[in-house]
Amino acid sequence: MIRAARRDEMERLRGIELAAGEIFRSCGMDAIADDEPLTVTELALYQARGGALVFADASDIPVAYLLIEYLDGSAHVEQLSVHPSHARRGLGSELLDVAEKRAQAEGFEWLTLTTFRDVPWNGPYYRRLGFEELDPEMLDDGLRGILDCEGLAGLSRWPRIAMRRRVRSIPG
Ligand SMILES: CC(C)(COP(=O)(O)OP(=O)(O)OC[C@H]1O[C@@H](n2cnc3c(N)ncnc32)[C@H](O)[C@@H]1OP(=O)(O)O)[C@@H](O)C(=O)NCCC(=O)NCCS
Repeated sequence: MIRAARRDEMERLRGIELAAGEIFRSCGMDAIADDEPLTVTELALYQARGGALVFADASDIPVAYLLIEYLDGSAHVEQLSVHPSHARRGLGSELLDVAEKRAQAEGFEWLTLTTFRDVPWNGPYYRRLGFEELDPEMLDDGLRGILDCEGLAGLSRWPRIAMRRRVRSIPG
């Protein structure tokens, strides 16, 4: 079930991100696996604004989460992580669809994100889900700022791109 994250679940979300990040070691991106997840306080800011969604298992424990924030030009997915114990069951795609419904309700035309262009479960995954790569000249200030910050944090050691998907009319 997808629902809003609760305030006391922030440590759990950090655990999901750490576990999900381990897969980056398989392609020599240990620095990404070692990257500290967002702090409890940073996560709580998303949660307080209603921007933290979780997929909870049958015991109501979060096993995946998505963070969304609203930029000037788009609803932006800041983070998507699925615990490896629940990977490849469509949870990531379902969370993106719910984020898109939120974006629709807020009147946004685009759902955006930044990701690693060549990592199979990043760029190619999102492309399969209907996202398109944005050329640098198509970036608005918000997305350019995010990519710049990610570069300063060392992420651009591997090609990093912004992508977008048009917000569709999703029933329900
Ligand atoms: C990317 C991620 C969110 C996908 O979540 P998910 O719930 O497993 O994905 P879905 O079930 O919706 O889709 C599965 C598809 O993702 C891709 N995928 C997932 N894991 C993969 C892997 N280890 N290798 C290659 N492709 C993979 C495949 O296209 C897969 O389809 P398939 O199972 O038919 O081959 C999840 O793998 C994850 O948390 N990864 C680590 C963190 C991360 O990279 N987050 C995104 C940052 S932008």
